Amino acid sequence: MRMADGLRLGVNIDHVATLRQARYATMPESRNAEPDPVTIASICERAGAGGITAHLRADRRHIQDRDIQRLRENVITKLNLEMGNTPEIVDFAIRIVPDEVCLVPEKREEVTTEGGLDVVVHRKELESTVKRLHTAGIRVSVFVDPELEQIDGARALAVDVVELHTGKLANAYTEKIEQQELSRLRDAAIAAQGHGLQVNAGHGINYRNIARIHEIPHLVELNIGHSIVARAVFVGFEKAVRDMIGAMHGYRG
Ligand code: PXP
Repeated sequence: MRMADGLRLGVNIDHVATLRQARYATMPESRNAEPDPVTIASICERAGAGGITAHLRADRRHIQDRDIQRLRENVITKLNLEMGNTPEIVDFAIRIVPDEVCLVPEKREEVTTEGGLDVVVHRKELESTVKRLHTAGIRVSVFVDPELEQIDGARALAVDVVELHTGKLANAYTEKIEQQELSRLRDAAIAAQGHGLQVNAGHGINYRNIARIHEIPHLVELNIGHSIVARAVFVGFEKAVRDMIGAMHGYRG
């Protein structure tokens, strides 16, 4: 489902599971395991989200295997499984068949995904994973830094989508850094679109910096988690999602 003006919102629901796992729920469906990310996913979809994203991490710190199975059964828009390129997780994805997989770098000690996946350095091991996922009928996205070398690397891998890492833009603390980062994002988006890749963006996008995201051309989808979950604590998911869709409105592409 595309929003009227063409920019789709994918809601990352990891931190709903983070809250549940604060009580170490070993059985995500048991009655005291709350809040349930699958229920929240449905609320987000009803509020207009065009997709649901969840990251199954090797350490299972938030989303659990069973959550992904239930999301697969319940998500009616599009399920995007974020994951590292490890044999265990790739086998899992092939069993579940999400609509899309977004390959990210993953370090056990990180708080959240830091930096894009280096698709140039890791080309060899990514190649076989992309082929396996495609054979299973799964669209493949790679989360990359906005660098032309990485866009060329994504093209060489024959992936379907690049998700541009907007974390540096989100964390820019001077106008100069912000402008530099925007310029890199714009160039990367233009190059990716020129190669026939779908262009998504994500990481650190919130209700303030979304105005800057409008300046990046060719975007199809934004994947946003933390800021939506944080606002939902105050106003509920329905309003938090509607507010973000409102802020995305008017994107000219
Ligand atoms: N896209 C990717 C590839 C990510 O790893 C994350 C964080 O899990 C997001 C988007 C969402 O980032 P945030 O939670 O900062 O909105």
